[in-house]
Amino acid sequence: MPYPATRLRRMRRDAFSRALMRETTLLPSDLVMVAFVINGEARREPIASMPGTERVTVDELLKLAAECVRLGIPALALFPSPPASVKTEDGCEAWNPDNVFQRAARALKQQFPQLGLIGDVALDPYTTHGQDGLIDATGYIMNDATNVALAKMALAQAQAGYDFVAPSDMMDGRIGAIRTALEAAGHVNTRILAYSAKYASSFYGPFRDAVGSAANLGKGDKHTYQMDVANTDEALREVELDLAEGADAVMVKPGLPYLDIVRRVKDRFGAPTFVYQVSGEYAMLKAAAQNGWLDERASVLEALTCIKRAGADAILTYFALDAAKWLQENRSR
Ligand code: PBG
Repeated sequence: MPYPATRLRRMRRDAFSRALMRETTLLPSDLVMVAFVINGEARREPIASMPGTERVTVDELLKLAAECVRLGIPALALFPSPPASVKTEDGCEAWNPDNVFQRAARALKQQFPQLGLIGDVALDPYTTHGQDGLIDATGYIMNDATNVALAKMALAQAQAGYDFVAPSDMMDGRIGAIRTALEAAGHVNTRILAYSAKYASSFYGPFRDAVGSAANLGKGDKHTYQMDVANTDEALREVELDLAEGADAVMVKPGLPYLDIVRRVKDRFGAPTFVYQVSGEYAMLKAAAQNGWLDERASVLEALTCIKRAGADAILTYFALDAAKWLQENRSR
């Protein structure tokens, strides 16, 4: 029925009717907080390219976890930022059962058993070359040898108490390798969050500063294993394989520039679909807000709502604590 019988502005006129017709509501329970863990005690290190985000020692991490629990954020995704002294060509510190990353999980699980813990599985923070896997004499990242290392790393994390292991490396077959290793060791309920459609994106720059892999990576890039930013069909093939190999949830990464991928993945597979709002997305929003060019609160909540609208069941974001606070405040207004 054309105008004037149909006036779409009628429903937009008042807050109550806008609320009634709203399709997507962002909740704290959609969010996963992301944090970087460092050795030592009572220390927080700022990350220049990620203002407002810090690397924290385990005792400080416990405070951050308490905030997550208080705000209704269901899970925390951790990344290590180990000192140069433990880095090796094969990244073997990654599966050391007593490294700071496993100690973090044990401490968190003891104090906050209800808070889900997601461990990053990739070698880049631990290697002298900053690549996610093992390299051969030519510098090529070896697929199958890397999978053996990743399975050891995932197993060490499962043993330390991580609820989810999250391979972010993009080797072929690594989900199957990890699943087999977990089953063999009796960790049948450890979930795998597969970074299935992870693109060779320029938006990871600040993260590489945060975990300290940027300098080691130097002029190197990750184009021989992460996906070409121009592709979408390939993302579906990656997701299909990861689900077949035993992934419990799949991830699309980055977030905002990749919402077409999120929608296709969710529609095609209907699997739990996570989206990572990455460090570069965080940095852009922060920088614009700090310059007074964007309203931080409104633009962050908009970006997160749009990611959910595109089909995300959960969103990994450095804004999780702030966003959850803002959502609470909005509700009580
Ligand atoms: C590496 C890894 C990266 C991110 C998560 N895991 C960067 C990369 O692939 O170089 C990026 C996260 C972010 O930018 O916030 N295993």
